[in-house]
Amino acid sequence: MAVTIDGKQIAEDVVSKVKASAAELIEATGVTPGIAVVIVGEDPASQVYVASKGRKAKECGFHSVQHTLPEQTSEDELVKLVETLNADPAIHGILVQLPLPKHIDSGRIIQTISPDKDVDGFHFINVGKLGTGELETAFVPCTPEGSMLLIDRILGRDLSGLNAVVVGRSNIVGKPMFNLLLAHNATVTIAHSKTKDLPGLCRNADILVAAVGRPQMIKADWVKPGATVIDVGINRIPAPERGEGKTRLVGDVDFADVAGVAGALTPVPGGVGPMTIAMLMANTLVAAHRSAG
Ligand code: GUN
Repeated sequence: MAVTIDGKQIAEDVVSKVKASAAELIEATGVTPGIAVVIVGEDPASQVYVASKGRKAKECGFHSVQHTLPEQTSEDELVKLVETLNADPAIHGILVQLPLPKHIDSGRIIQTISPDKDVDGFHFINVGKLGTGELETAFVPCTPEGSMLLIDRILGRDLSGLNAVVVGRSNIVGKPMFNLLLAHNATVTIAHSKTKDLPGLCRNADILVAAVGRPQMIKADWVKPGATVIDVGINRIPAPERGEGKTRLVGDVDFADVAGVAGALTPVPGGVGPMTIAMLMANTLVAAHRSAG
């Protein structure tokens, strides 16, 4: 039976360290880490994520502001807000919640965020630093960074000789995850919807990271015995057993099935999700430290 990786607990450890370090920074320099979270439109899932980011920032002792803009906000208006936040000395981290409404070019918005305040790690400068191994100065996207910390807890920092398979090639998770695993000496393959014999490829993985957004796609016979499995998926599925119209969250991994084969496995919820928010706090603290010199 697989060890369940307690992302909630590990995230709490990260957050308590961030909180202590933020208090020290405030005491030593008078600089309070500040984060601005911007949400455009009414997507219910995004509203939940953004609210929990704000709550966690307050828990860390940060200055936290949320900008909630209507769905019909124009791209130029959003650019102006980001430019204002870039110039605001009380703000060290800026996060524009994705996805944005269709009429807004997300790429333009992301590239408007100052790379020094890009705590999401989505700006070309930070993507380039991660891709060239400049990990000391890059902001790394929070979900892969948090996933890496979970892998670290199970396998240590050096992944030499281990095969890693990342299922999903998104800019937010798959590609940065590839670069992080590579930087830690794993032999990495990215799989995606056009990959041939996906189950066979996954069965070769000592480390399997699932980030495709397909509920419970990964089954026990896709997993190498003893593998470390990181489930990045957050999917809401109908749960009639809980009552009419009820839903529940599941990952991209069939947890009950895979738990019989894997060595260690993250649950959903309570695995990668809390780590994402914790790493956002850690990145904001780093940004504040840098601005304080
Ligand atoms: N939407 C889903 N995940 C993320 C994330 O990590 N950052 C932002 N900005 N939006 C997201």
